[in-house]
Amino acid sequence: MLTRATDADLFQATALINSAYRGDSARQGWTHEADYIDGPRTTVETLRQDLARNPAARLYLLRDAPDAPLLGCVWLEPHDEALWYLGMLTVRPDLQDRRLGRRLLAHAEAIVTGQGGTALRMTVIHFRDTLIAWYQRRGYRLTSETEPFQMEQPPGLDLHFVVLEKRLDPALA
Ligand SMILES: CC(C)(COP(=O)(O)OP(=O)(O)OC[C@H]1O[C@@H](n2cnc3c(N)ncnc32)[C@H](O)[C@@H]1OP(=O)(O)O)[C@@H](O)C(=O)NCCC(=O)NCCS
Repeated sequence: MLTRATDADLFQATALINSAYRGDSARQGWTHEADYIDGPRTTVETLRQDLARNPAARLYLLRDAPDAPLLGCVWLEPHDEALWYLGMLTVRPDLQDRRLGRRLLAHAEAIVTGQGGTALRMTVIHFRDTLIAWYQRRGYRLTSETEPFQMEQPPGLDLHFVVLEKRLDPALA
């Protein structure tokens, strides 16, 4: 079940995202940011503000049943009619590597094509090689573009984002 998050879901969504990106809980998964970035990935207030600022953006939540705990989530936001941004693709750490991530990504792509979008774009921290390779196996290609890391740089690191894009097949809508 993929449903659109409401304000009432933001606390659970924040806990899920932070547990998969940062801290010891993230180490149960196969890819995360826990080894080089401290602190939470997001907060309830950040999600709330981002959704308020971008009325066309949606945070989708994956559950087994309407009131069941969250299993995953994905952020989708149109840049224009054709190009959408995908972010915060997350699977609960203890459920990773069971093909949920690729199914969530495929659903996200179908939502975008259903809305008339023809391409998806995302950013990934430049040295997350195994994650970049995972997206490449799903049809995303590395562009030559990069984006700055806007948070405080972890000591000794010089992080930036690489940009990946995928042209979507309208037949998937
Ligand atoms: C990225 C993420 C959504 C993938 O979800 P998932 O449910 O694990 O994905 P799947 O089960 O569909 O795919 C697992 C893949 O990981 C690969 N994998 C498993 N362990 C691995 C490891 N130690 N190193 C490299 N690849 C590994 C598997 O081989 C499989 O890839 P393949 O079938 O293409 O060969 C999930 O890991 C996650 O939530 N990570 C934390 C949040 C994050 O960093 N999100 C990305 C933001 S851009």
